[in-house]
Amino acid sequence: MALSITLILCVLELIVHSTAGVIETRGGDSPTAWGDWTTWGDLGNSQYRNPVLPADYSDLDFIRVGTDYYAISSTFQYSPGMVILRSKDAVNWRIEGHAISNITEMGTSYSWESMDRYGLGVWAGAIRYHDGMFWVYYGTPQEGYFMTKAEDAAGPWSPLVHIWQEPGWDDCCPFWDDDGKGYFVGTNFGSGYQTWLFEITPDGQGLVNETRTLINSGAGREANKLYKIDGWYYHMYSESGSGRYLMMQRSRSIKGPYEERRQLSNVQLEWHEPNQGGFVQTPNGEWVFLTHHGNGDWSGRIASLLPVTWIDGWPIIGQPDSNGLGNMVWTDTKPDSADSEGYRPQGSDNFQSTVLGPQWEWNYQPRDSHWSLSERPNYLRLHAFQPLQTGDLRTVGNILTQRVFRTSNNTVTVALDLEGLADGQVAGLTHFTRNWATIGVRREKGRTYLEARDTGGITTGEELQTTQVWLRTTWGLDGISQFSYKTSTSEEFTLFPDNNSYQLQWQDYRGDRLGIFTFNDDAEAGYVDFESFTYEWDRGV
Ligand SMILES: *[C@@H]1O[C@H](CO)[C@@H](O)[C@H](O)[C@H]1NC(C)=O
Ligand SMILES: *[C@@H]1O[C@H](CO)[C@@H](O)[C@H](O)[C@H]1NC(C)=O
Ligand SMILES: *[C@@H]1O[C@H](CO)[C@@H](O)[C@H](O)[C@H]1NC(C)=O
Ligand SMILES: *[C@@H]1O[C@H](CO)[C@@H](O)[C@H](O)[C@H]1NC(C)=O
Repeated sequence: MALSITLILCVLELIVHSTAGVIETRGGDSPTAWGDWTTWGDLGNSQYRNPVLPADYSDLDFIRVGTDYYAISSTFQYSPGMVILRSKDAVNWRIEGHAISNITEMGTSYSWESMDRYGLGVWAGAIRYHDGMFWVYYGTPQEGYFMTKAEDAAGPWSPLVHIWQEPGWDDCCPFWDDDGKGYFVGTNFGSGYQTWLFEITPDGQGLVNETRTLINSGAGREANKLYKIDGWYYHMYSESGSGRYLMMQRSRSIKGPYEERRQLSNVQLEWHEPNQGGFVQTPNGEWVFLTHHGNGDWSGRIASLLPVTWIDGWPIIGQPDSNGLGNMVWTDTKPDSADSEGYRPQGSDNFQSTVLGPQWEWNYQPRDSHWSLSERPNYLRLHAFQPLQTGDLRTVGNILTQRVFRTSNNTVTVALDLEGLADGQVAGLTHFTRNWATIGVRREKGRTYLEARDTGGITTGEELQTTQVWLRTTWGLDGISQFSYKTSTSEEFTLFPDNNSYQLQWQDYRGDRLGIFTFNDDAEAGYVDFESFTYEWDRGV
């Protein structure tokens, strides 16, 4: 009798273990290789496939407010800064706006007159909903921390408040406790990656330096987030060992001591280190984590959504292994079945509006007198002026950009009207990072020529007899792009230069960008009218 009871208890224990300890296998169908995003995002059958955004959405944070999800992503020297995404299901995202309309509020280095912040500028931040407002806090590595707030995530956002003026800090996050008291965490990477907790002033617009407490240090620890769940204060961050992975420490008191360090995910070098983001509970009670893949390539640091499994009070990101560390999940059930019609990333524009769509970001704060959506209705007009340095596209003050997508078939076609070109003026379409390549037109002694440029020089093509021209770039999963063009008298697009190809690139912490631009080496003269920008990509479903 005693024996059989023991046996039954053993069997019961086995059953309990296999339901509590062993987690169902998810996402077994990994891609054959990194970058094989033949299908991605919403699969249309209640499932989704990672990445959810195969484009440069770096340094993510992620929250839910009611039935809506919001995410923010770093934007470096681009303007407007700190892009905001919105979703109904955390899988289908549209671009909602930007938290920083005027990046020169951070300093004159961010203007078209200076262009001195490549690789710097708006790094990671955090978005929180508190007291009926959205609050965004972020850092730049040279200027310190800033904050802004808004009633509507689409804006308008308040002018920036410079809450911490010291270089060498990054990856901050605010937190408001149940009693309304505000806190803030940030890492002084310039001083051995020391992470400090501060109280913030009641208006949220200042850090109280005297209250600072060291809560973490070393091992490249950054990517801070603070949460309070079931009476625990959780400090999430990433750590750098043989690559980046997520870590967490918790405490019963916001100021610590935070003693229990727990690794949440494996490094996953082959999947480019998914590690920095935010986690939220869905209306159904599940938890999900939106992350970037921290090791960027030509498409930047792309975004994936991972399931979260709680093990002993720790949120494990992705599929837990036998050590309780998370791994990449490629396919899973969508968190919510909400109608996400209209929640797709914007790209194409035919310039019918008098304000620029949120898919656009200038390289640096633009010269407002030199672009217009109203001078000629239904066209974007760019006026030409001299670059800071002749021959260097990175110093051209009129480049309007979008992120590239990495899908199996990507095509961008722009329609230009060349009526307003002046001698010395160049206008066109570019792929743009530190290296760049363009296809465009050049006006010389009253004649207009097709041309292509890169850092190696200029190739001049045929003289154009029409004032309407279409420029095109196409690329696939390999990121090898080809430029082509067409005029109003030709039927087909022709490759130019013959059989050209340009490998899109990752530099200065950014993936490749698409850009439309104009400049004039000789004089501040001439304009070009863009009639449309058509951006097609393939979702594989
Ligand atoms: C942007 O901010 C700078 C610095 O505060 C200011 O001088 C400039 O007028 C602002 N530009 C716009 C368009 O508001
Ligand atoms: C904050 O306090 C520390 C320690 O007293 C001091 O070294 C630092 O300069 C202060 N920083 C600011 C921005 O006030
Ligand atoms: C790629 O997309 C373009 C534009 O939609 C289309 O014309 C072309 O046929 C597509 N190419 C392939 C190989 O699917
Ligand atoms: C065109 O370029 C591709 C890729 O660089 C190459 O494989 C192909 O041989 C080239 N074709 C011609 C006709 O040069």
